[in-house]
Amino acid sequence: MSKSKFFSVLQSEIDRIDSAKTSKRNEKLITGFTDDPSPRAIINGKPVLVFNSNDYLGLRFHPALKEAEHEASSKFGTGPGAVRFISGTLAVHRELEEKLAAFHGRDDAIVFSSAFAANNAVIFSLIAGQSKDSLVSNDVLVISDELNHRSIIDGIRLANLPKEQRAIFAHMDVDDLERVLKENTGKFSRALIITDGVFSMLGEIQHLQRIREIADRYDCSYPQGILLLVDDAHGIGALGKGHGTEDIENTKSDILIGTLGKALGSDGGYVTADQVIIDYLRESAATYIYSNSISPGTAGAGIAAIELLRGNDGQKLLKKLNDNIALFKKMAAENGFTMAADSWHPIQPLLIGDPERTKQLVALLMDKNILVTSINYPVVAKGKDEIRIQLSALHTSEDIEELITALKEAQETIAF
Ligand SMILES: Cc1ncc(COP(=O)(O)O)c(C=O)c1O
Repeated sequence: MSKSKFFSVLQSEIDRIDSAKTSKRNEKLITGFTDDPSPRAIINGKPVLVFNSNDYLGLRFHPALKEAEHEASSKFGTGPGAVRFISGTLAVHRELEEKLAAFHGRDDAIVFSSAFAANNAVIFSLIAGQSKDSLVSNDVLVISDELNHRSIIDGIRLANLPKEQRAIFAHMDVDDLERVLKENTGKFSRALIITDGVFSMLGEIQHLQRIREIADRYDCSYPQGILLLVDDAHGIGALGKGHGTEDIENTKSDILIGTLGKALGSDGGYVTADQVIIDYLRESAATYIYSNSISPGTAGAGIAAIELLRGNDGQKLLKKLNDNIALFKKMAAENGFTMAADSWHPIQPLLIGDPERTKQLVALLMDKNILVTSINYPVVAKGKDEIRIQLSALHTSEDIEELITALKEAQETIAF
């Protein structure tokens, strides 16, 4: 049968990935969590300290979120039942959108099944229009940071714009962004600048204030103006007062993409912006129109997360997270560890440099009941293989000491 040849093509690609030691499919199976206040997962029957979760505030275990999730699913059922424009717009969805918009100081918000789905459809809609009848032309220049998240890259790819309409600026290089805007002045009706707020491999925080300033300065050089889109999936709920990179950089984007699935302890993605943008997205974003929204329970948990973040309890968790970042950085420096970047985010990247040693280090730490992730090519450049440590507000100083001690002991076996 010829389909066996199809299978063998796929198998040879799996073999290639395996031999490059960059395989991801043998995931660790978490069978539960302990009742410990620290984040401890049960893997192979033993509790391990989790240092690789995006749940930066520990909200996924918070009783207020669990209760809100339960209440919403009791009232509305376990699934949305239909896409939004059919019968899938439930009061919890709208309440969540209103809360998100108010939290970020915007007119409105729109919720997607994930931030990945949001990026794909939002970027496509803004640069390619909705259909062949669309009044939104594609006479647009898209400018993207070199290390933007895969969902942004795919959103741009989907639109299939000619090459000259797609520009990449060097990673976090604001001067290079200005060069692109200058060189393209007079060539396009409008421009869309897209960047991550926090870059998830290194925990770097984008220079948003400088980007905003440049976007505003060049706005009148493009007849239909320039919009700044920021995906702050890792910043929201982890930086500043919880509004993310915008708090740290004291500025605002035109279109802010977030996720409920990281620091906000629930699941799903969202966009918040001026009313006209949100109205346009409800008419054009394919993953909103043709795909289910999040389940009612998930939306309920999202509402509880925003309420918590706005209050004292949320702010205390943010403070604890910040203290943990400072403690980890201090101990890592005292022990002479080389970090892949100087991050002031809960993502702390320990530079190892090759896939073999990162894998060995993950295994050694696992033996010491510590769970971390190795990040390898193609997610990071070759030679930049790292252990991505992710801190949480739930970690105690003893947990962080335990991690540092385990890393020091591992250094006796593996050089890094
Ligand atoms: C910058 C960025 N954007 C989007 C996403 C996707 O988020 P979600 O899990 O909600 O799809 C991620 C997650 O890895 C991310 O790091």
